Amino acid sequence: MYRLFRPGVSGSVKPRIVVAASGRGSNFEKIAEAVSTGLLNATLECLLVDRECGALEIARNFGIRSYLLSKPWHKSFDEIIDQINPHLIVLAGFMRIIPENLVEKYFPRIVNIHPSLLPAFPGKDAIVQAYEYGVKVTGVTVHIVDKGVDTGPIIFQKALEVDESWSLEQLEEKIHQIEHEWYWRVIRELLYRPFEIVGRKFRWLDEEGL
Ligand code: GAR
Repeated sequence: MYRLFRPGVSGSVKPRIVVAASGRGSNFEKIAEAVSTGLLNATLECLLVDRECGALEIARNFGIRSYLLSKPWHKSFDEIIDQINPHLIVLAGFMRIIPENLVEKYFPRIVNIHPSLLPAFPGKDAIVQAYEYGVKVTGVTVHIVDKGVDTGPIIFQKALEVDESWSLEQLEEKIHQIEHEWYWRVIRELLYRPFEIVGRKFRWLDEEGL
């Protein structure tokens, strides 16, 4: 049984989260908004990026500390995370594979969002892959990070029926809308609700059930 945050016991009144990104940062922005409006009761400690990218500008706008990871990126990633000791590490378009030793060290505290219904279309450019494949249904997956690429236990999926008239850009927009609506909510659940992972199956545990 896992429970990432327990007020008081965890030494703070709010759970600490860190976000890692590599791109424009629209998911990071929604998470930062949810934190700043109090919908997501957590402290957004910092943003980690592995390159110059749009997410840095968003961090500046929200007054959130950011770090451009120096080489080798996983060493500085680990050093910063180790210092902050966050309850959850949120990957939001972070285009790096987390090395096995870090997955082991932080499991199950690293969460990722992927713009397809996994296990379909893992890896890069999932929306393009799904569009070009001609799928009639695609969607969004949020999962715990394990040692594989986009293979970890699935926490949440939302399906989207693809209209045949849509352009790639329209599909991208619909997928991002789903991500923006749901990622921060899944993060909130993950911080506050008990859960278990058996094999590769993730399951919420109700308080009453414990
Ligand atoms: C998002 O669509 C996210 O699902 C995807 O990168 C995009 C980042 O956009 N992640 C992956 O493909 C991970 N394999 P953003 O920078 O605007 O949040």
